[in-house]
Order: sequence, then structure tokens, then C-alpha cells
Amino acid sequence: MDQTPRQLSTVSSISSSPLGKGGGGEGASMIDIRNVVKIFKNAAGEFTVLKGIDLSIERGQFVSIVGKSGSGKSTLLNMITGIDHPTSGQVLVNGTDIYTKMDESDRSLWRGKNLGIVFQFFQLLPMLSLLENVMLPMDYAKIDDFDERPKRAMGLLGLVGLEKQAHKLPLAVSTGQQQLAAIARALATNPPLLVADEPTGNLDTHSANAILLLFEQLVDEGKTVVMVTHDPSLTDRTDRNIIISDGDLIDEAVALALPLLKHRQMLAVTKLARRLVFDPGQLIIGREEHVDSFFMIARGAVEIILQGKKHEDISIARLGPGQYFGEVELLRGGKSIASVRAVADGGPVELLALQRDDFHNLLRESPLTEETLGQIVQRRLEENKSMDRRGGFLGRLGK
Ligand SMILES: Nc1ncnc2c1ncn2[C@@H]1O[C@H](COP(=O)(O)OP(=O)(O)O)[C@@H](O)[C@H]1O
Ligand SMILES: [Mg+2]
Repeated sequence: MDQTPRQLSTVSSISSSPLGKGGGGEGASMIDIRNVVKIFKNAAGEFTVLKGIDLSIERGQFVSIVGKSGSGKSTLLNMITGIDHPTSGQVLVNGTDIYTKMDESDRSLWRGKNLGIVFQFFQLLPMLSLLENVMLPMDYAKIDDFDERPKRAMGLLGLVGLEKQAHKLPLAVSTGQQQLAAIARALATNPPLLVADEPTGNLDTHSANAILLLFEQLVDEGKTVVMVTHDPSLTDRTDRNIIISDGDLIDEAVALALPLLKHRQMLAVTKLARRLVFDPGQLIIGREEHVDSFFMIARGAVEIILQGKKHEDISIARLGPGQYFGEVELLRGGKSIASVRAVADGGPVELLALQRDDFHNLLRESPLTEETLGQIVQRRLEENKSMDRRGGFLGRLGK
């Protein structure tokens, strides 16, 4: 293996990248939000609701967005749907720059064909049957032969399990069924992207589960689904969870590595951490080296390597996105107990490095995090000891 350490390179800005997925070049994403700022002005003055958001969402991903009430979730979704417009910055959806290259009427035509929108309060027209509600967007986007529409709408109601209710008015079915019908309507023009703002916020758990199952099925079929929710039990079921705090995005690696922090603290770590990039195979920390940071993995994978009796390398663990290293040395003092290297057979490794003082300040502010990390350090040290005794490979958990 190549042992030569190379110069560590610092990248000043890396847009939030999907964890665990490779590169994704220009135009490949379903959604690309670049430095989006949204300022609302009213009599009381100016209010910055989105403070420079960078976000890419890949095709075929199921993404949840969470955040406290008023943190900017709906405003962010409105930037994607074109319902509102950014004060500055760029939004590309399905390869189209939806603000600089389109006027309002182009945008609403584009919206009708490219995305389905689902709201918390269904917004079905009360005087129309479920079937007629589902047919409405087909008319607006001038999609499908007129005679084909009822058949197609019925097919969509079948997909969500509502054929038998097709001719009922919205108020004649349950709220869960109304939301399923609203999703069928959102799918009327077969858009590649579905955007939902708290779609289960007004539903019981059973109905909420039916909605999630439907979203999972749509994602399996290749659609991209972006869902704002305040239900933490739903975020476990999505590919990616994005946290917004006070108009800023929290780095996903920080949220995964330090889940017990408050959103405000996660955001502070996101802003304090330096971003570092290493090439495949590059040494990140040498054995016996002084460690001055807590490292969270944002992309790629690293190997933890101990030295065997004959000074051979023994790879004892492989850590990936959301996992971390350096905490043993920071909490116990002293030098590195192992070396850490970017895996040779992977892509570049992106790390977020929180400096020693910032790390200790953070633990003072979050006793829960301190306690958890303390337990992990204990476990890692015991595992390393038992490995030293056995002098051989032993699988070790990263966290
Ligand atoms: N049209 C508007 N004019 C002025 N302020 C707004 C407007 N829309 C939203 N806001 C403010 O922006 C902040 C974020 O709102 P929103 O995106 O709806 O939050 P969330 O969906 O996370 O609850 C809130 O403080 C809200 O009052
Ligand atoms: Mg909202």
C-alpha cells in the first residue's frame, strides 16, 4: 500500500453533497439550489428567511426536510416549486433554471409538467369528485388526449387504492383518503419530482403510514420525493434527512455524527468546522501523531489501521459518512493510537474538522454528547487493547 503522505488540501466551499453517493456532475441532479437567499420585506423591516442555501438532490432519492416551526422549510420548498422566487441565487430543477430563464407563465406551465405538489391540507376542490380532481392538472398542462384522461385518472386512483371512491366528493371520504387522492392528483401529469409540505401533518399514524408506503413505492419506481415533515419517525425511512435551522442548512455529516445536539448547536458546528479533502489512499493521521481535531466524515470512507507485531498494517475498521474519529485522542489526550487513511479503492474523502477548543466547548454545552462520546471512547480503547493481545484482525464497529 502507498504509505506516502501527501499535502492536505483545503477546499473553501463544498456544496452540501449527498452522503454516501458519488460525485454527480453538473446537471445530473434533480434539484440544484445555489446560494439561495430569501428576504421578506414588510412594514417592520427586512427579514432574511433563507441565508444562502446550497443543496443538491439526486434523481430517485427520497429526501426529508425537518426543522423547527418558522425555520424556513416551506419557504425553501416554494423556491423549488417556483411558487415563490428567491431574492438571489439560482435554482435548477430537472436541469432547468426556473427563475432566470422563465417568466411567471412559462414557470407555471413548466410546473404543471415537471412536478407534483402535495400540501398539508390536501386542497382538493370540494365540489368535484376525486376522479375530477385528479383530472384537473391534465387539463391545465394540456397533457393526454382528452378521451384518455378519465382512464388515466382512474389508474392513478387505483394506484393509491381509491378506485371504489372515485366518484365520491372529497368530504365523503376520510382525511387519509383525501390526502391519497391529492397525491394521485399530484401524479396526474406523471412528473419526475414530487414535493410535499407536511403531507402527514393532519393525519393519524395509520394514514400517515399509507402515505409513506406510497412515497416509498414511487421512489422505487424512479421518482424523486422531497418531503417536509416534523415527524422524526418518518425521517428514518428516507434516504437523506436535511435539517434547516434558522434559514441555514446543517451539514448532514454533523447531524449524523452528533445527533444529540440541538439544531442551533449543529449549525454552530457546521459553521466552525473546516472542510478537508483527501485523495484515495492518502494518509490523514499518522500513528503516534498529535491529533488536534475531531473529524467527521462527509463523503467517502477511511480505514483505521493498527500496526501488527511484525510492523505490518492491520486494518481494523472502515468508517463512512456520518462516522467520526479523533475523539479518543481529544478526550484522552496524547497521540494517535492508530493511523487513518482514505481508502485506496474509493473516491475522494471529505472531512469536517472541528478544532480541539471548539470540540471541548461543544461538549461543555452538551453533556449528553459528552457522555455518549465518553462511552464510545471507552469501547474503542477496550477493543484496541483486545486486538493488541490477539495481534490479529478483529472487526470493530465504527461507532
Ligand atoms: N410571505 C411572507 N412574508 C413575510 N414573512 C414570511 C412570509 N412567509 C414566511 N415568512 C416568515 O418566514 C419564516 C419562515 O417561514 P416558513 O418557511 O413558513 O417556516 P416553516 O415552514 O419552517 O415553519 C417565518 O418566520 C415566517 O413568519
Ligand atoms: Mg411550513
